[in-house]
Amino acid sequence: MARIAPSLLAADPLRLGAAIADAASAGADWFHLDVMDGRFVPNLTFGPATCAACRAATDAVLDVHLMVARPADWIDPFVDAGADVVTVHAETDPNLHRTLTRIRERGARAGVALNPATPLGTLEPLWPLLDLVLVMTVNPGFGGQAWIETSDLRIERTRAARDAAGSDALLEVDGGVDRATAGRAVRAGAEVLVAGSAVYGGDGTVAERWAALRRAAEV
Ligand code: DX5
Ligand code: ZN
Repeated sequence: MARIAPSLLAADPLRLGAAIADAASAGADWFHLDVMDGRFVPNLTFGPATCAACRAATDAVLDVHLMVARPADWIDPFVDAGADVVTVHAETDPNLHRTLTRIRERGARAGVALNPATPLGTLEPLWPLLDLVLVMTVNPGFGGQAWIETSDLRIERTRAARDAAGSDALLEVDGGVDRATAGRAVRAGAEVLVAGSAVYGGDGTVAERWAALRRAAEV
């Protein structure tokens, strides 16, 4: 069964504690934290202090997605703030071997994210260092964007490459995951679905939206 990781980017920033509690009661055991620096992506979000506040609020896995220039500079601050998974973008790091090794040395799980236009071959030398691969299904920077239609094939290809490499890195997808696309993501091979707007926006309660997404992800 695929895991769903609510993205706190879509939650009310004044009520993050309640957003965590609501999703945790519905069944969430991962939370996705979108860190943006206004350089790698055209938006700003939050830093390690917010991650530490989330850490104090939950024992769930904190899945930190670094959309920042020089991501290696932020490994220590976020691991110190309680991150369990630290994911860096391939496009912004010329020393991925060093960075991924450092994340593991700090005791966190190491992830690499690929933008929609980044060649999948980028992953080939990295498999032994990876605990997670994040296939972006939108261009990073904002919540609430539409799933890019070519994503299904890209997820399938990533899953096939992962399996052929004998890696046990988790395959995560992020962006535009909702009731209409969650099943597609799972059928294509995704194992962790990040969902922001579909959990924290729209009609109904978090519990109702979670249940609908859960059903859509069961294929
Ligand atoms: C986009 C972020 C996503 C975002 C997803 O740059 O990486 O995690 O929060 O939001 P939705 O689920 O609304 O597309
Ligand atoms: Zn994200």
